[in-house]
Amino acid sequence: MLILGIETSCDETSAAVVEETGSVERPWAVRSNVIASQIPIHREWGGVVPELASRQHIRDICGVVERALEDAGAAWTDLGAVAVTQGPGLVGSLLVGVAFAKASAAAAGLPLVAVHHLAGHIESLVLENGELPLPAVVLVVSGGHTSLYLVRQAGHYELLSRTRDDAAGEAYDKVAKLLGLGYPGGPVIDRLAGGGNDRAVPLPTTRLTHADRNAPTLKGDLDFSFSGLKTAVLRYVRARDAEKGAVPLFTESEIADICASFQRVVVTVLIDRLFEAARRYQTKSVGIAGGVSANSRLRAELQQYGRLREMPTFLPSLALSTDNAAMIAAAGLRKFRAGITAPDDLNADASLVL
Ligand code: KG4
Ligand code: ZN
Repeated sequence: MLILGIETSCDETSAAVVEETGSVERPWAVRSNVIASQIPIHREWGGVVPELASRQHIRDICGVVERALEDAGAAWTDLGAVAVTQGPGLVGSLLVGVAFAKASAAAAGLPLVAVHHLAGHIESLVLENGELPLPAVVLVVSGGHTSLYLVRQAGHYELLSRTRDDAAGEAYDKVAKLLGLGYPGGPVIDRLAGGGNDRAVPLPTTRLTHADRNAPTLKGDLDFSFSGLKTAVLRYVRARDAEKGAVPLFTESEIADICASFQRVVVTVLIDRLFEAARRYQTKSVGIAGGVSANSRLRAELQQYGRLREMPTFLPSLALSTDNAAMIAAAGLRKFRAGITAPDDLNADASLVL
């Protein structure tokens, strides 16, 4: 069976065709995965402008879906279902994908499957590696989320912790902005950090010990917090500003040092909580998914820690790290096989929970 996946939750319009292989080791295979990125459009504004994003999704969606079918060598009549990101994300952007998926599923007489964006990120790991050894703990870390999920059973995601404030990717984007490095911040900071001294700038690591009043069901001690770190970088920059007051504020090598120091703290915190959760829940594997999983230091440290603790580790390829429809199709296939389809009046939900 082939499933068409559609993803429009933020600033990527994506469509993909994923095939159910029938193999136990690798249940799904990507037949096509087309991504129209809006990054050049939003870069000018220093971040994603929601209204521009929705309008661009409308412009791109038809062509992206047609291309995905063409690349897969598939026609509408070859498909068995249509999966779409229902949320969370920007509501106007989500609505474009949801409306397109509903209309096309109805026109082609296909069942519709609603997918949670983060379930898609988690399933990106299975898409490329086959089923994870369970129980597994997966860190989903992107521009909008930093959450730990325990997967005891395939397709069931138990939230263990999340960020209390900024997501890790958001911290990358904000720090890049205040250093004048442009949008998105992750890839550029990652690149510059490679040439810097990661101990040059003293920055705080946050460890939360108190419960979160907004999430009484979570223990809270595996939670993340990145706004303090971002503020510490801001203070460091301001202090220099007051001292120097001239442009350029920093030399290239000083910028590299700030990037490296910031990245060291972010990666240390992420790896620490992930392996703490793995120890606590005695998992058989750990994974990292979402845009920030493209980070070179995070990838290296995950593999290094995994080897040290003899724990199998999983990461998506770079193409499946950031937003894409292949992961949505995969998560949709899993739901479809579990007998879960969406009603004809499906609506987008900007703050859908998982
Ligand atoms: O998953 P994603 O494409 O979209 C969301 O669902 O948010 O993640 C985008 C985020 C951005 O914040 C971007 O700066 C970050 O992922 N990112 C990175 C890297 N590549 C992308 N962060 C750190 N290092 C990278 N190499
Ligand atoms: Zn994402």
